Amino acid sequence: MKIFIDTANLEEINLAHSLGVLDGVTTNPTLLSKEKKEPLKQLKDICAIVKGPVSAEVISKDFPGMVKEAEELAKIAENIAIKVPITEEGLKATKILSAKKIKTNLTLCFSPTQALLVAKAGASFVSAFVGRLDDISTEGMQLVSDIKIIYSNYNIKTEIIVASIRHPLHVLEAARMGADIATIPFKVISQLLKHPLTDIGIKRFEDDWQKLNDALGKK
Ligand code: E4P
Repeated sequence: MKIFIDTANLEEINLAHSLGVLDGVTTNPTLLSKEKKEPLKQLKDICAIVKGPVSAEVISKDFPGMVKEAEELAKIAENIAIKVPITEEGLKATKILSAKKIKTNLTLCFSPTQALLVAKAGASFVSAFVGRLDDISTEGMQLVSDIKIIYSNYNIKTEIIVASIRHPLHVLEAARMGADIATIPFKVISQLLKHPLTDIGIKRFEDDWQKLNDALGKK
C-alpha cells in the first residue's frame, strides 16, 4: 500500500519524506488555509520535495471553471493531481481532464455508487472519506471494502485512496483490504511507528551494554 501524507505543512512533509515512507501528498483548501501562505507557491514547494502525486483541489463549481483551474494547477509541476469534488460538474471536468492526460483525484466520496461513476468518467484516484462517515455513525471502512469489490469485479484501474483517516486502525484495515493508498495525517504516521515495547527494548539493551562496559572497566 502506498502512503501519502494528508497535509500542506512543509515541515511535516519534509520529515515524513526523510523517513523514506512517502509516496505522495494530498492537500485540500482547509489544509492550505492553515499554512497562511500563497497556495500556488506552497504547492510548488511541496512538489519540489515529493516526486509522487501531489493533490491540489479546484474551487470552481462549474466544469469550465474547474477545467481552467485544473490546467493552471497542472502547470505547477508534472506530479500535480487535480482534486475534483464528486458532482455532475465534477464528472464532466474529469472526463475532459482525463482526455488531456491530467491526473484527477475525485474527492469527498461517501458511497460506492459515486466511486463507480467517477471511475467510468476516467478518474485516476478516488478518495473515500472514512473518518467523516465514522463521525456520523456509519462504518467508513465498509465503503472501502465495497469499492474494492466493485473495482476488482470490473478490473477498474482507478486507485482507491483511503482518506479522512483518524487513527492507526484505519490504516491497518486499509492495508488488510488491499486499498491502493492511505493518505494519513502526520500525527497518525508517527503513531504507526511507535510501540512501547520497542522503546523498552532499546532502553534494556542500552543498560545491559553499559553494565558490560562497566564490568570491563570501559567508559
Ligand atoms: C483527503 O484527501 C482529505 O484531504 C482529508 O483526508 C480530509 O480529512 P478530514 O475529514 O480529517 O478533514
